[in-house]
Amino acid sequence: MTEKWAQGEVLSIKHWTESLYSIRILAPEVKFTAGQYTKISLNINNEEVARPYSFVNSPNEEFLEFYSVSVPNGPLSTELQRLKIGDPVSVGLKGNGFLVLNEIPKVENIWMLATGTAIGPYLSILKTKESWGKFENVILIHAVRYSKELAYQKTINELKEIYGERLIYITYVSRENSENSLEGRIPKSIGNGILEKAANIKMSPENTHIMLCGNPEMVKDTTIELKKIGLKKHRRNSPGHITTENYW
Ligand SMILES: Cc1cc2nc3c(=O)[nH]c(=O)nc-3n(C[C@H](O)[C@H](O)[C@H](O)COP(=O)(O)OP(=O)(O)OC[C@H]3O[C@@H](n4cnc5c(N)ncnc54)[C@H](O)[C@@H]3O)c2cc1C
Ligand SMILES: NC(=O)c1ccc[n+]([C@@H]2O[C@H](COP(=O)([O-])OP(=O)(O)OC[C@H]3O[C@@H](n4cnc5c(N)ncnc54)[C@H](OP(=O)(O)O)[C@@H]3O)[C@@H](O)[C@H]2O)c1
Repeated sequence: MTEKWAQGEVLSIKHWTESLYSIRILAPEVKFTAGQYTKISLNINNEEVARPYSFVNSPNEEFLEFYSVSVPNGPLSTELQRLKIGDPVSVGLKGNGFLVLNEIPKVENIWMLATGTAIGPYLSILKTKESWGKFENVILIHAVRYSKELAYQKTINELKEIYGERLIYITYVSRENSENSLEGRIPKSIGNGILEKAANIKMSPENTHIMLCGNPEMVKDTTIELKKIGLKKHRRNSPGHITTENYW
């Protein structure tokens, strides 16, 4: 199916670190469900270069927001990083993807696990009030290499203020020591029980749904660990506990 495009305009760009940035775009025609992605396209050397990006904004907000990392030699992410206020950018008119709450059963505890920029779709979901009727507790987990990459602290603090103990936020920093974060990687800490201990919640098949998003190796390795404790992939025709989205 050919993509239909909205002509958007950059409203602002926030540089979190030398490689991480968030772009706000005005393109009111674009429609999506919280947790979905669309394509962004730029004309680079007379060629349209398009890639998928998850919405960070809630569908109720008046701007679109995307959170991106500039990958060394990456054709689009390095160009997006250079955008300035007022620059034109094409955005796919419709959201896509299944990392959305209406695809999953109502559940007591929802675990949202992300590496790097994949925290974005979870923020879109959590900023959307209606989402909170679908579960009792959310355990939001963000794994990054360095603590400076733990972006969106203000948004997460605002959510904590509204939802209090219903929102448990756990971070991993893998490449330096960091006082308030777990060390290492997500899959190992599921295997040895450290993650459940940090959240003070058990991952049992009766009360759990897990969303995994980001690095495909993390998604793969985490799924292996989750299967060992009795959780299985969720499919429309065969309900389970694990919903995934790979970023590459
Ligand atoms: C469904 C979906 C949703 C996505 N949403 C986002 C998003 O919200 N934010 C975002 O930054 N990217 C997202 N991506 C990845 C994005 O589409 C681009 O691949 C990325 O921005 C790099 O683009 P590029 O053209 O510079 O390099 P590409 O040629 O597309 O990628 C080059 C390599 O960079 C690495 N890479 C790609 N994306 C990432 C990433 N996010 N983090 C770490 N390494 C990466 C991979 O090794 C990949 O092979 C998403 C991808 C998919 C499939
Ligand atoms: N230029 C810069 O300064 C800069 C800065 C950051 C990123 N980048 C580039 O951006 C790209 C992505 O970097 P990123 O850090 O956002 O994403 P990433 O490589 O996916 O790393 C994010 C987190 O996921 C973890 N992870 C990786 N593989 C895993 C697995 N199999 N299971 C569980 N966890 C796993 C990483 O742990 P580990 O640390 O153990 O791998 C890290 O904590 C890279 O191409 C990088 O070169 C550049």
